[in-house]
Amino acid sequence: MTASRPSAVVILAAGEGKRMKSATPKVLHMIAGRSLLGHVIEAASTLEPAHLVVVVGHGREPVQEHIAEIAPWAVSVVQEQQNGTGHAVRVALAGLADRGIVVEGGPVVVLTGDTPLLTGRSLVGLLLEHESTSASATVLTARVPDPTGYGRIVRGSDGSVTAIVEHKDADESTLQIDEINSGMYAFDAGALSGALGRLTTDNAQGEEYLTDVIGMLRSDGLPVSASVCADADEVLGVNDRVQLASAAAILRDRINDSWMREGVTIVDSASTWLDVDVELDIDVLIRPQVTLRGPTSVSSGAIIGPGTTLTSCEVGSGAEVIHTWAELAVIGEGAHVGPFTYLRPGTVLGRDTKAGAYVEIKNSTLGDGAKVPHLSYVGDADIGAGSNIGAATVTVNYDGVNKHRTVVGEHARVGSDTMLVAPVTIGDGAYTAAGSVITEDVPPGAMGVGRAQQRNVQGWVERRRPGSPAAEAAERARQDEPVDRPSDPPFETA
Ligand code: UD1
Ligand code: MG
Repeated sequence: MTASRPSAVVILAAGEGKRMKSATPKVLHMIAGRSLLGHVIEAASTLEPAHLVVVVGHGREPVQEHIAEIAPWAVSVVQEQQNGTGHAVRVALAGLADRGIVVEGGPVVVLTGDTPLLTGRSLVGLLLEHESTSASATVLTARVPDPTGYGRIVRGSDGSVTAIVEHKDADESTLQIDEINSGMYAFDAGALSGALGRLTTDNAQGEEYLTDVIGMLRSDGLPVSASVCADADEVLGVNDRVQLASAAAILRDRINDSWMREGVTIVDSASTWLDVDVELDIDVLIRPQVTLRGPTSVSSGAIIGPGTTLTSCEVGSGAEVIHTWAELAVIGEGAHVGPFTYLRPGTVLGRDTKAGAYVEIKNSTLGDGAKVPHLSYVGDADIGAGSNIGAATVTVNYDGVNKHRTVVGEHARVGSDTMLVAPVTIGDGAYTAAGSVITEDVPPGAMGVGRAQQRNVQGWVERRRPGSPAAEAAERARQDEPVDRPSDPPFETA
């Protein structure tokens, strides 16, 4: 049996989320690279509803902008005052009617925007239960160890749901019930709109409770069902930062477990944070303290970590990335990156390249086999295949106004501590002398030397620092020296 498409899914997200104590509306807080609301929309989308409505209120502008970005097909309806969950659904259906949308032909599903662990599978279960029992309403419920704060599911002697009683309205015996209302339901569209029109605010919170619809439908003699969610985590609502962290940790484990089942080794799941859009091949090895964000992809046999954060990066097979922070970078097959490497947007490392310790690279390409092994800054540069950039080389790319490119040909050898003052080109097979400041192009095969000639001022230390440990060491060295030394220094210095 397959569940029929809902005529509408309504997601309630107008509440303030006070307990988050945040300038960001609650449903826009992120876990695993997706907003809380985004997770709910993702689960709802698996039902392929004819219409998806999000009820917004507090912080509506950013929430509406976010919806337009992640689910442009969704409709957002403003609930000016938060008069309760029943009122919110009423406003949502009225909003659809205002847009000329008739809700018919399939059930109406109501969800809340702050339950990021909900899965499409449980929603399908809810719909199947709803249809197989021909219910007017079906509640998604769960049994939880601590039901404090939730509405309780009251069942009659035959086991059928008779009412939902809010915690604040419950008596002692009702408070003992550990089956809770998730706040998610499937309704027959006609039965729902009929009951919504009859809601009152006669309760502890003075609000129109959606939960009262359940009791009303029962009083009307209509069947009401419940679908018990096997995994109570799925209905976990996020109300504060503590629950945000718990939800993030549960989702982290869920994502990691699923990758491990796909053939990825994760050494320390507790310190591995993978966004929902990450793609991993088989035999990827993830060492401790790794965060992969955005649409990062890692090909087979690559090793990531320890201590690495990659955002929207592509890592080729067999590459190794250690203690690295990288964003929008492409790391080629078999490349070695790290430790302590910073790859900024536009970095493209070819096959078997190296970006070693204390190296920063930005908006640059490294041809196959090229190496920047130590302590360098490479910005706005193209380094040809097989070239080696000596330690502490800097591309001097910025003149204070404009950025300029550095081009290094193939199999070139840039000496240690070279300043490549861009725009500048080092030809194929060219060398630069260590410590050079290269301001002019070096032709292919040439050695570019751009540094002052060295001179030694003989005897300076013994004259200027007499009696110092350095002078004594120099004296001892001279006594050991078999050869003549000049009696006079070649020239005097100040
Ligand atoms: C609600 C249920 C409760 C259930 C719990 C599950 C009611 C009366 N109670 O209680 O049985 O156990 O959820 O978490 O429905 N919202 C609006 N507009 C409003 C009021 C609420 O959009 O006028 C939204 C909120 O932003 C939130 C959701 O509806 O996303 C639930 O509202 P909330 O006030 O949190 O209800 P609870 O008291 O938690
Ligand atoms: Mg709530």
